[in-house]
Amino acid sequence: MMKRTKLFAALLLAAASFAPAAAQRQLTVQANKPGAVIQPTMYGIFFEDINFGADGGLYAEMVQNRSFEFPDNLMGWGVFGDVKVSTERPAFARNPHYVTLSDPGHAHKRTGIENRGFFGMGFKKDLRYDFSVYARLHGSGTKATFRVELVNANNSVIKSEKVNVDSRDWKKYTCSITSNVTDPKGLMRIFLESADAVDLDHVSLFPSDNWNGLRADLVKDLEDLQPGIFRFPGGCIVEGTDLATRYQWKNSVGQVENRPLNENRWNYTFPHRMYPNYFQTYGMGFYEFFLLSEKIGAEPLPVLSCGLACQFQNDGESAHVAVADLKPYIDDALDLIEFANGDVTTTWGKLRADMGHPAPFNLKQIGIGNEQWGEMYPVRLEQFIKAIRAKYPKIQICGSSGPSADGKDFDYGWQEMKKLKVDLVDEHYYKEPKWFFDNAGRYDAYDRKGPKVFAGEYAAHGRGALEVNNWEAALSEAAFMTGLERNADVVYQATYAPLFAHVEGWQWKPDLIWFDNLRTARTPNWYVQMLYGTNKGTNVLKLTEDGKAVEGKDGLYASAVYDKDAKQYIVKIANNAEASQKVNITFKGVKSIGRVKTITLSGNLRSENLVGQKENIKPVENFIEGSGNALSIDVPSKAFMVVRF
Ligand code: AHR
Repeated sequence: MMKRTKLFAALLLAAASFAPAAAQRQLTVQANKPGAVIQPTMYGIFFEDINFGADGGLYAEMVQNRSFEFPDNLMGWGVFGDVKVSTERPAFARNPHYVTLSDPGHAHKRTGIENRGFFGMGFKKDLRYDFSVYARLHGSGTKATFRVELVNANNSVIKSEKVNVDSRDWKKYTCSITSNVTDPKGLMRIFLESADAVDLDHVSLFPSDNWNGLRADLVKDLEDLQPGIFRFPGGCIVEGTDLATRYQWKNSVGQVENRPLNENRWNYTFPHRMYPNYFQTYGMGFYEFFLLSEKIGAEPLPVLSCGLACQFQNDGESAHVAVADLKPYIDDALDLIEFANGDVTTTWGKLRADMGHPAPFNLKQIGIGNEQWGEMYPVRLEQFIKAIRAKYPKIQICGSSGPSADGKDFDYGWQEMKKLKVDLVDEHYYKEPKWFFDNAGRYDAYDRKGPKVFAGEYAAHGRGALEVNNWEAALSEAAFMTGLERNADVVYQATYAPLFAHVEGWQWKPDLIWFDNLRTARTPNWYVQMLYGTNKGTNVLKLTEDGKAVEGKDGLYASAVYDKDAKQYIVKIANNAEASQKVNITFKGVKSIGRVKTITLSGNLRSENLVGQKENIKPVENFIEGSGNALSIDVPSKAFMVVRF
């Protein structure tokens, strides 16, 4: 018996000495030598009206086609009885259509209109909904009355209010209704109650918890990212499918009721995701974008058309303006700078003040062109640069390197941007997770003397069924971003794309934040962005293993920063290996590390965070102790960790 026990013990010992040792990594952080400054703009957001991101999304208006200006004027509306569309003596010159509701003149017949918003109207129990409309008596009427009803998905009235119309001139009428139920798929109905007819225009309904007309929950999702830069309004939206439908910022400011409608360039783009009812009301326009920038603490970065329509979609006659005819486009850029920063005595500065913001918005950067390539772009951009530099020498100009991460057009684009001496070059890349894991060193050898990099659109895209916001995509972005951070002397800002998607109205995925009419989902990618945004630091610290950057060897990625305001050290580590790794970090120049906070994101690579379901990927906080100037951390397999002390 004794012999057998001894033999067993000996076997165990032998087995232990042959077992692979848990991977031990020895990293060094040069903590006493803060390096390159990390720009406050480093991690930010990019908003584009795609996936019903604006109307039906961030813009809290619940009524679709509120001004009856869609090409099919009653699109989005159900009508019954005697309803006519007119333009005679309109309330708003640039949105002239309105409806007339008249009594059908028969007992038991009724007249009304109803609107189901965007994929239904979401009502919340105990929340007040603010209705408004422009109305006037029609013809010789003396008193018209209509009833506004909130209706649930079962077609039962939740609550209603009456509105009396007493004038033959257009006037704004309002009422409020508090819902006593939660229903994601309600509708709003307007019922004519009087024999006298009424004209109605700009029919609007907002949840009372909106922030400046924007959905409060979505604003919170942005605010919590602590973004440093806010790029808007696109994307291809800036360019339009043709020049006529490009985003024209001047149409998006001033009285909201009089902002003319534009089609949305994403309405018919993808044959498998068609949305003929996708338009831009500009209810959320440039003024609102600037306000939102202030609210979330991000520097605004508006992007304007350079005179080229979306190059993917259109190279016909309507696709570009001749260089000699660029003046109105250039004026748009100069006037936008005046709108943002000009004194209140200037034309556009005055408009900003009249809209409620006399103080300047402190615009520092402007993008000219979205995702442009080829020879047509630099010759146009040059004209803008000359005019902007002459009038506003301090404004930084952001040019484009096109739609790809590399290749002929990309190289040509960069070469031209350098010649033109733009301040920043906007790079776009939508690639598979593997590409992101393989490219953490992308910026290590970039030219330090040329323009700075703005990774203005990027996201990891799986293929087919994996083209979703799963943990694998997010982890690959986290790993890649250690490379952005390490190269903060040349990478000045980076924004994931796209930002928003309505679960029933998307055209493009993955996207950072998904939502339905009542709820939002913070994707794993959102959490990665949030951890970078809230642990940005102020200076890069050199982090090495055997004297080299840690950018993917055996699945490990790491970068370090110092936050001189908080006087804290921050290390970010991504482990894409199949096993956990023990990471020992020595902080040169630090005497005693003490207590360290760790925040970990980890999980199954296929996990997602879906609207209305439990969050599968979310940060877990922990505390560990350092030993002198050394720290030993077990980094789980397929995990991203932020370490802070
Ligand atoms: O983010 C979606 C689209 O991708 C943007 O509109 C465009 O710039 C890019 O092609």
